Amino acid sequence: MAARSCRESKVSILGAGNVGSALAQRLIQGNVVDVVLLDIVEGRPQGIALDLLEACGVEGQACRLTGTNDYARTAGSDVLVVAAGFARQPGMSRDDLLLTNTHIVFEVTQKAVAHSPEATVVVITNPLDAMSHVAWRASGLVPERVMGMAGVLDAARFETFIAWELGFSVRDIRAMVLGGHGDLMVPLPRYTTISGVPLTQLLSAARIDALIERTRTGGAEIVHLLKRGGACYAPAAAAARMIETLLGDERRLLPVAAYLGGEYGLRDIHMGVPVILGRHGVERVVELTLETEEKAALYRSAHTIRASLDQIAHLMPANQPPSTV
Ligand code: 2OP
Repeated sequence: MAARSCRESKVSILGAGNVGSALAQRLIQGNVVDVVLLDIVEGRPQGIALDLLEACGVEGQACRLTGTNDYARTAGSDVLVVAAGFARQPGMSRDDLLLTNTHIVFEVTQKAVAHSPEATVVVITNPLDAMSHVAWRASGLVPERVMGMAGVLDAARFETFIAWELGFSVRDIRAMVLGGHGDLMVPLPRYTTISGVPLTQLLSAARIDALIERTRTGGAEIVHLLKRGGACYAPAAAAARMIETLLGDERRLLPVAAYLGGEYGLRDIHMGVPVILGRHGVERVVELTLETEEKAALYRSAHTIRASLDQIAHLMPANQPPSTV
C-alpha cells in the first residue's frame, strides 16, 4: 500500500452492523476521503450512508461515503475492514460465533480482496484472533497485510479503568495487552505506565488484578447491559486508530492480532502482540521480555486460539497464502 494521506485513501468496511457503521462515521469525520460501506442486506448500507452524509451536512463537512451491496464498488481499497458476521448475545462467548463467522469472514474477505489485491486487511469480527487467521487464509496475501483489531480496544479499556481508579487523566496512561481477545487476554501491568511511572508503583496488586479482570470481561459487560448486541463505539475508535496508523505510515507501536511466524515461540497463528504498524501493515512484531507467569498466560491464550483453528481446519482449503514478503 502506498503511503497516502488520509485524504487520498480508500477504506472499505465489509459489514454495516453497529461497529461497521460507527467506524464509517469516524472515518468520514476523520478525513478519510473515500469510505465504502458494504453489506449483503439490500438497502442497509445505502440507508446508513445516506444518514451519515446528511449528518455531515449538519456539520458542513464535505464527506464521501458510499453504501453498497456490490463488491465492485470496494475496488482499489487501501484498507479492507472485515466487520461482517454475527455479534454475540448475552450469555454467549466470542468463541460461540466460531463456525458461523468462519464461513462469513472467509467469503467476504475472498470477494473483497479480489477487487483490492493491494489492500491491508483489518479484521473486527469475533472470535477475533481466529477470524484474523481465517481472513489471512482467504486473502492469499502475505501475513503482514492481514491483522485483527483487539489489543488497542482492550488496552483502551484497561487504561480507562486505571484512570478512574487513580483519578488521573487517561491521556497519560499507556497499557500493554497481549494474547487473545477473550477471557485469557494478558494485560501486562509491568508494561503499563502513567507518564512513564510503572502502574505497579501506583496501585496494589489486588487492585491491579481487579482492573485486569474488568478489562477481560469488558466486552461481556457491555453485552450484558445492552441485552442485544455489544460494544460498537470503542471497537470503532480502536479500528480507526489502526487505520490512521496504516494509511499515514505512522510506524506506531500498537497491540494488534498479528501473524506469528516464530515470534514468542509461536507459529502459524494470529494473536495479540505489540507490533509496529506502517504502510506495509505489520512492519515488525516486537518481542517483549516476559516473566515466567506472563509467558505461561500467553501460551494458555495461544492454546485456546490454536484449538479454535483446529476446530475449523476442515473449513479451510489446503492452499496456504504466501508466508513471506
Ligand atoms: C468487544 O470486546 C466487540 O469484541 C468486541 O466489545
